[in-house]
Amino acid sequence: MLMLGIESSCDETAVAIIKFNKESFNGKLLSHVVLSQIDEHKKFGGVFPEVASRLHLEKIEQVFRHAVNRADVSLQDIDFVAATCGPGLIGSVVVGASFGKAISVSLNKPFIAVNHLVGHALMPRFTRKTLEFPYLLVLVSGGHSIIGILHSPSNFEKLGSTIDDSAGECFDKVARMLDLPYPGGPNIEKIAELGNKEKYDFPIPLNDKSCKMSFSGLKTAVLYKINELKNENNGNLSIEQKSDIAACFQKTIVEVFRKKVINALRGKKENLSQNKIKSIVFSGGVASNKSIRKMGEELAAKYKLQFFAPNIELCTDNGVMIAWAAIEMLHSELIKKIKASGSAKIEDLFNDLSCDIIKKNIFTE
Ligand code: KG4
Ligand code: ZN
Repeated sequence: MLMLGIESSCDETAVAIIKFNKESFNGKLLSHVVLSQIDEHKKFGGVFPEVASRLHLEKIEQVFRHAVNRADVSLQDIDFVAATCGPGLIGSVVVGASFGKAISVSLNKPFIAVNHLVGHALMPRFTRKTLEFPYLLVLVSGGHSIIGILHSPSNFEKLGSTIDDSAGECFDKVARMLDLPYPGGPNIEKIAELGNKEKYDFPIPLNDKSCKMSFSGLKTAVLYKINELKNENNGNLSIEQKSDIAACFQKTIVEVFRKKVINALRGKKENLSQNKIKSIVFSGGVASNKSIRKMGEELAAKYKLQFFAPNIELCTDNGVMIAWAAIEMLHSELIKKIKASGSAKIEDLFNDLSCDIIKKNIFTE
C-alpha cells in the first residue's frame, strides 16, 4: 500500500511516499522531496509567515509531482493521503492540508490528519525498526521543547516542556544577535566548533528537579554578554568572541537537556528498573545538533539504555515523518479495532476506515 505524506507547517514544502505492507506495516521509502524556503526568509532574519504560505501555494504541486515521479508510481496507486494539520503557521498548514484533502477527494482515498509533533515523535521508529514503545522522548524543534514518555502513537505522558521560548527559537534568536544567517541552529553549531566553551558562564535556567524548561533568560544573558563585549570594542565583536559565545551558549543548552533528561529518568526510576523504558530518543530540528546527540548517547550509555535520533536530514521538517506517523496511526487504530471486534482480518478493517482517523492532539500543553 502507498502512503503519501505532505508537510508545509513552516518553511519547508515537503512530500514523501512510503510503501508499506498491510500485514506487517513495515515501510520502505520510495521518494522524499523537500523544497526549503530558507533563502527567501534569510533576508528577514527568520520565517516571514505571509511569504511562507505564498511560496507553499506556488510550489506544492511541483513538489508533489516530483515525489510521485521519483517514486515511479501512478497517482491511482496512492492508497492514503496524510498531511500536517497543525501546529504551525496557519497559512502554511492550510496550503498542505487543503492540497492533501483535494487529492484524497479526487482519488477517493482516505485522508489522515497528522499532528506535526507526532510526526517528529515517531520519525525515529521509521529509521530504527528496533525502537520499541515506551521511550523517553525529547522533542526539540523551532516551536517546541517537550520531554515525556511516548507509550504509543496516541499516548504521550508529558513530563515537562518549556515555559517560554523553545530551544530552537533560542538558537535562532542568539544567531541573529551574532549576525549569523537564519536558520540559527546549524550556523551556531558551525562557529561553536571554533570557540572555547569554557570562556563564558551562562546560567542554567530552571536548574531544579523538574522537567520544565525555560530559554528566554538564557537568551537575555547572552544579549548582556554581547553588549558588554561590544561596549569594550567600539560596538564590534571579533570572530573569536562570536565563536566563544556560540560555544558557551550551545554548551548551556546541552547542559539544560542533560539535566532535564536525568530528572525525567529519576522520576521514572520504576520504569527503568522494570526495563519498560529501553531508549532515549531525541527528535525535531535541534536534534540534528551533534553536541546534543553526543550528550544523548553519553546519557543513554550511563543509564544502560539505547539512544536513537533520526538521520540528520530527517530531524528537520520533511514529508517522511508525516507519511510514517500516518502509517503508525493506521496500524494502532487497526489493532484497536481488531481487539474490539475479535476479528483478525486486517483486510476487512481497511475497508471500514473513516476519514480523519485521529485528530486528537496528544501534545496538548
Ligand atoms: O523541526 P524543525 O525543522 O521545525 C519546527 O518544527 O520548528 O526545527 C527547526 C529548528 C530551528 O530553530 C533550527 O535553528 C533548529 O531546528 N536547528 C538546529 C540545528 N539544525 C536545525 N538547532 C541546533 N543545531 C542544529 N544543527
Ligand atoms: Zn518540525
